[in-house]
Amino acid sequence: MIKRQFPSTRLRRLRRTESIRSVISETNLLISDLIWPLFVIEGKNQKQPIKSMPGVERYSIDKILQKCEIASLHGISMIALFPKLEEDKKDRFGSDAYNSNNLICRCIREIKKYFPELIIICDVALDPYTDHGHDGIIENDIILNDKTNDSLVKQALTLATAGCDIVAPSDMMDGRIGKIRTAFENNGFVDMIILSYAAKYASAFYGPFRDAVGAGLLLGSKGKTTYQMDPRNSLEAISEISLDINEGADIIMIKPAMPYLDIVSQISKKFQIPCFAYQVSGEYSMLVAASKNGWLSEDDVIKESLIGIKRAGATAIFTYFAPKIAKSLKDGIF
Ligand code: PBG
Repeated sequence: MIKRQFPSTRLRRLRRTESIRSVISETNLLISDLIWPLFVIEGKNQKQPIKSMPGVERYSIDKILQKCEIASLHGISMIALFPKLEEDKKDRFGSDAYNSNNLICRCIREIKKYFPELIIICDVALDPYTDHGHDGIIENDIILNDKTNDSLVKQALTLATAGCDIVAPSDMMDGRIGKIRTAFENNGFVDMIILSYAAKYASAFYGPFRDAVGAGLLLGSKGKTTYQMDPRNSLEAISEISLDINEGADIIMIKPAMPYLDIVSQISKKFQIPCFAYQVSGEYSMLVAASKNGWLSEDDVIKESLIGIKRAGATAIFTYFAPKIAKSLKDGIF
């Protein structure tokens, strides 16, 4: 180790101008790091604001196509689709999840017609489809793991058949990655990518998302704590991720991002597969709300939050800021 001492070493020399800082920067955000989550609704020419996520809207399929156009123009190569179902489509079992003509499948087929290159990621979880808002099947107040897995497998096959490129199980049932992988192998979907929400914490930061997809508002005091991870744990994240990789996940995800950067950092160093992070709805709303009040400088905090996630080790980031940031990056003003 070279002994660096003042004044032969003055670290401020390399901070003197923006061009020097840019050349020596260790972390850089790229357009290819960004994944854009989009909310889909029924109807034509429809858009609905989401109260708790100012600036984010739900769109009918024809409008989603316009957003795909924007994604392509800005160079965003991956989008993630989340449906908000009409109430009469929901039931106790979330059975519309494996209806091949459901909202999300129709949306996938339409996008693939016009934007075959755009990579579509879809959640595998029952919460938008169940009338109780849980990710799984519930009996006597208990979420049934194995019975839920049977439905998740059917949902994953339905999404694959519709043309989705990446399925993202976000339900946190045990063993579901292995079951889905086996079903894919047995049904000719050998190239389907599984992005596992492997370390998904039981987080209050998902509040605005549940508003956006109209799920989980009836969850009661236990919330999703019997299946999502306890925020107090980090060793458990390693177990979750090891299991999911062994069961056949291609990519793993940590979620939320900002309060869990220690997990992103550990996991991205420990495992040799891509590690994504999700800057979730609550993180989005928090930054936007403070900026709207004039308490934070919006563009600067967005950039800093994303750079922080990348610096921690994320390979790519789900963020509702994706179109905005992609545009700035493209215009060279990031
Ligand atoms: C559903 C799901 C959730 C999110 C992504 N998929 C919510 C939850 O588990 O309650 C959260 C995304 C966000 O907050 O932006 N399984």
